[in-house]
Amino acid sequence: MDTPLLETDLPLPGRRQGKVRDLYDLPAAAPGEAGRLLIVATDRISAFDVVMPSPIVGKGRLLTALSIEWFRFIESKGLARTHLLSSEAHELIGLGAPPIRRDQAERLEGRIMIARRCRIIPIECVARGYLDGSGWSEYARAGSVCGVKLPPGLRRGDRLPEPIFTPATKEELGRHDENIDFDRACGIAGRDVMERLRALTLSIYKAAHDYAATRGLILADTKFEFGRAEGATTPTPGDDLYLCDEALTPDSSRYWDASKWHPGGEQPSFDKQFLREYLNGLTAAGNWNKQSPGPALPEEVIEGTRARYEEVRRRLFG
Ligand SMILES: Nc1ncnc2c1ncn2[C@@H]1O[C@H](COP(=O)(O)OP(=O)(O)OP(=O)(O)O)[C@@H](O)[C@H]1O
Ligand SMILES: [Mg+2]
Repeated sequence: MDTPLLETDLPLPGRRQGKVRDLYDLPAAAPGEAGRLLIVATDRISAFDVVMPSPIVGKGRLLTALSIEWFRFIESKGLARTHLLSSEAHELIGLGAPPIRRDQAERLEGRIMIARRCRIIPIECVARGYLDGSGWSEYARAGSVCGVKLPPGLRRGDRLPEPIFTPATKEELGRHDENIDFDRACGIAGRDVMERLRALTLSIYKAAHDYAATRGLILADTKFEFGRAEGATTPTPGDDLYLCDEALTPDSSRYWDASKWHPGGEQPSFDKQFLREYLNGLTAAGNWNKQSPGPALPEEVIEGTRARYEEVRRRLFG
């Protein structure tokens, strides 16, 4: 059994926390080389943009393992550059003040990524091949998603004629991301960058979708973050956009069981849907208002959630 990890306090500079990950600055590997970042995936889980007080034991390791497998897949197919430099926790030994000890580093094994530090482009790059979530809500209301017109008569869970790119704003902690159309994304990040991000997002989504299909899974949609390398005095030649953060995990993607896919309603999924259903029950009973702090989670919800994440990892790369 893994030891639960809700947060870290390492003797490294620049600590900051996302909903799931703790980040620290690392020195460049050599003078003039790219700035580096330590990303530790904790066992925190968020739902409705609220971080729960209970850890999903082992989730950080599962997310890290999945992201690393997918980053390697993406690089080996030449689809995009990724921010992943290393996942070797022993490289942390001796860094920081006081220096990180071997036993401290070992506890982080399997949870960390050493990444190229990037300036994140503040657009969530979403690809959808199927209609669900906020895409489905928008389609049901307006017949389009993020300004992309879709054929009439689609049902919830239907496969789209072609995967579509549906950007969203990247909001600060506690605020909900907002779906926007392509032109608005261009207004934020620039048209040239957005055109490249759209092409990268769709080509990674298509390749990952086809791979997942060989494992009996439907990758219904996914979200990427991209950034520009920061801190290198000798720039790397070629494309300066890097895929950052995590890749194709159940936190950033909808995975369905292909054998149970049945358009026309909600699909059983491997993401946080199980947790969300439990929380919706609490809310319906007047026991939680979907604001921070979240409720402590019962053991069966923790275990059920962990098992779903584990199942995705096993099916994809087991
Ligand atoms: N290579 C990188 N350089 C700089 N920042 C990065 C890099 N990779 C990821 N990040 C940032 O690190 C943070 C990771 O934290 P976490 O995954 O907990 O994210 P979050 O933004 O709170 O939640 P969510 O991903 O659900 O929107 C994010 O703010 C992400 O933008
Ligand atoms: Mg994130």
